[in-house]
Amino acid sequence: MKSLAGKKIILGITGSIAAYKAAFFVRLLVKSGAEVKVLMTESATTFISPLTLSTLSKHPVITGIADGDEWSNHVELGLWADALVIAPATANTLAKMANGICDNILNAVYLSARCPVFFAPGMDLDMWTHPSTQANIQKLLDYGNRMIEPESGELASGLIGKGRMAEPENLVKALDDFFRKVSPSQTLAGKTVLITAGPTYEPIDPVRFIGNHSSGKMGKALAEKVVERGGQVKLVLGPSKLDISQPGIEVIRITTALEMLAAAREIFAQADIAIMAAAVADFRPKFAAKEKIKKKTGEEEMTIELVKNPDIAATLGKMKTKDQVLVGFALETEKPLVNASRKLAKKGFDFIVLNSLKDEGAGFNHDTNRITLVFKDNKIKEFQLKSKLDVADDILDAIEQII
Ligand code: C5P
Repeated sequence: MKSLAGKKIILGITGSIAAYKAAFFVRLLVKSGAEVKVLMTESATTFISPLTLSTLSKHPVITGIADGDEWSNHVELGLWADALVIAPATANTLAKMANGICDNILNAVYLSARCPVFFAPGMDLDMWTHPSTQANIQKLLDYGNRMIEPESGELASGLIGKGRMAEPENLVKALDDFFRKVSPSQTLAGKTVLITAGPTYEPIDPVRFIGNHSSGKMGKALAEKVVERGGQVKLVLGPSKLDISQPGIEVIRITTALEMLAAAREIFAQADIAIMAAAVADFRPKFAAKEKIKKKTGEEEMTIELVKNPDIAATLGKMKTKDQVLVGFALETEKPLVNASRKLAKKGFDFIVLNSLKDEGAGFNHDTNRITLVFKDNKIKEFQLKSKLDVADDILDAIEQII
């Protein structure tokens, strides 16, 4: 979680049983390189000890407007932070925040903070669904605060439903996503990235072709994420309905595999990274008719002679120098891991992104994808179903580990 390195986070803990998760949350934040100061309401201290949190955060925990004979400067604290996170946020604290009530240090810091504020509700089912809680939450969202949604499951009361505070990993992820968007780390600055995407259309005659359902969405997501990280993209895109016009992404429109090969070869010679996300037609008609092929009377069958298309990825695999990174995709329906690692070796990939057509929501035309990365040393890394943008981040993280 590079985006959290050096970030100053105030964690406000309130009195919900989910307060026990705050210890894990602080640990994860500190591990990500964030500096964490913890504030607790009095009732939070009955659920988890300030000593645990001061040890993990390496800062004294603030529990009152005055601690001993020292005054806690809530204005200074509010200005110090890059983000204030209230987790768990009880119905009581949310109500106070929504109405400007300021009877403890946490609410005082909330009212004086200029940084983004996140709140992660943690409460029982009926408290969560109560109209007053929902109205308070709506007010807080309208003020520009950000909610990290509670999750569903078994609650401390034994009831089952929504209200469980998000797991610490998900709290960290929400912050990471936020900081990535506001100031993405320029980890690919100066890098040129070739991406092939979309289908190829192989003409049979001027009006017909052999093609496939690839949408090019995964390639587009990768291109956007490379730009977010400061890289330059050359996107060799087959016929796709996508409209891509964004600074940092040069789109080279092609139709056939041969055209994709010519463009990719030329660009790869100057590129640092190549990601082969295109669904290239394996074969093309040997001859494309000049005129539209007409039905002949009595003709019940017709044959189109096909010839193999060049393997663009494998061609780049042969050109590849030791400083270049080459990543491929594989869509396998049988023995996916075995076939993917065979393909990885054959084409000279550094790693291969295996995706499945069998998973609901994954593959062609979806906005989500579920991938497994297979590396040269046969190590594998599996991921959950995610948006293609999040999948692109996982792929780029793996590439950055190689470079
Ligand atoms: O062999 P298969 O088509 O399964 O390999 C998939 C990978 O190889 C993808 O990364 C795809 O973009 C690339 N490929 C290519 N040229 C081809 C066929 C596949 O670049 N002719």
